[in-house]
Amino acid sequence: MKKIKLEIAPGVETEFVDRDRALAQVAEWAEKSTRWPVVIFGPEGCGKTAFLRQASVMLRELGYDVFYLHPLDRVFAAEVDDPDVKSLFLDLVRKTLEDERWGRLALAVFDLTREILKKRRRKIAIIADDVFQAIGLDKAAAYVKGLLNTIEHPVYRYENIVVLVATSEGMSRSEIGRHRWADIMPMWNMAKDGFTQLYEAIPGVKPLFEKAWRWTGGNPHMLLELHKRSWSVDAVVKALIRDKELTSSFIAKWRRRLEEAVEDPEALWSPDTPEELIKQLTEKNLIVYNMYDRDPYFWIDQPPPERDPELGIGRNVAWQTPLHREAVRRALREA
Ligand SMILES: Nc1ncnc2c1ncn2[C@@H]1O[C@H](COP(=O)(O)OP(=O)(O)OP(=O)(O)O)[C@@H](O)[C@H]1O
Ligand SMILES: [Mg+2]
Repeated sequence: MKKIKLEIAPGVETEFVDRDRALAQVAEWAEKSTRWPVVIFGPEGCGKTAFLRQASVMLRELGYDVFYLHPLDRVFAAEVDDPDVKSLFLDLVRKTLEDERWGRLALAVFDLTREILKKRRRKIAIIADDVFQAIGLDKAAAYVKGLLNTIEHPVYRYENIVVLVATSEGMSRSEIGRHRWADIMPMWNMAKDGFTQLYEAIPGVKPLFEKAWRWTGGNPHMLLELHKRSWSVDAVVKALIRDKELTSSFIAKWRRRLEEAVEDPEALWSPDTPEELIKQLTEKNLIVYNMYDRDPYFWIDQPPPERDPELGIGRNVAWQTPLHREAVRRALREA
C-alpha cells in the first residue's frame, strides 16, 4: 500500500508511520462494508486526520470510489472513476469555497453517491473529517443519520460501502451517541513502538525518547508542538493554559476537584462530580470521559492501557496527554 506523506515540521516530510492495526481494520471494512457509519473520536492531535487520509488512499487502491471531505482544512476530493461525478463535485467545491456553505457540500455527497451507483454497482467510501464543526453540532446527528440511510436504504445497490467520520469536538460524541445511528469508536494516542518511529523522523537535537514519551503520552501533535517550540515544555504548557482558557475564575471554581484530578483522573468518575465540570473539561478537550472497555474490538488501532498513572490514564477517565494535565497543574499553582 502506498503510504501518504505528511509534513511534520516546515520542510520535513515523513511517511505515515505505524497504526498497523487501524489499517488492518480498514482492510476488513473494505472487505465487509461498515454496517453503520464509524464515528472516530479521541484526544486532539492523536492522528485522526492522518489516519483518515491514509485510509482514503488505501480504499482507492482497493478499488473504491472515494469521497473525502475535510472542511476545516478546505480539502475536498472525489477520487472516483466517473468523470461526470468528479466534475460535478469539483464544481460544487468551487462554489462552496466561495460562500463557505460546507453543509451543502457535505450533503451533496449523498446525491453524488446515488449518481455513481445509478450506472453500476460499485464500492463506495465516504470519509468525512471534522464535518461537525463545519456544519454545526446541532446538525451532526442528522448528518450521521443521512450516512446511515445511505448504507441501510440505498436507492441503488452498492457492492460495498465504507463510511468513516472523525471528530475532534469533545461534545459531538454524546450528541451522536444518543441516537444509536453510528458505531462510535475511540482512537488513542500512538503506542510506544509507532511513536518511536515518529520521534526518529524528527531531525535535529532531541530530548531522550523516554522524556518525549512521558510528556506527550504518544500524542503526535504534542511531539511536533514541542519540536516547534525548541522542546520547551514551559512554552507548550503556557500556550495550553491560554488556549484552553484555564482562567483564574475557572480554576477557583473547581480547585478542589481539579487538584484531585491531576493526581488521579479517575477522581472525576466519582458520582458526586458536578456534570458541569465534566462538560467543561470535555469541551476544552482536556480529558476523555467514560473511556471504553479496553477490548481492542471497540477501538481503532491499539487501546491505551487500563491504567497508567504516569500518563494520566485512568480506567474510566483520562487526561488527553500528560501535557494537558500539566497545564491544569500549573494553572492551579499559579492562579
Ligand atoms: N501515523 C502518523 N504518521 C506520521 N505522522 C503522523 C501520524 N499521525 C499523526 N501524524 C502527524 O501528527 C500531527 C497530528 O495529527 P492529526 O492532525 O492527524 O491529528 P488529529 O487527531 O486529526 O488532530 P485534531 O484533533 O486536531 O483534528 C500531524 O502533523 C500529523 O501529520
Ligand atoms: Mg484532525
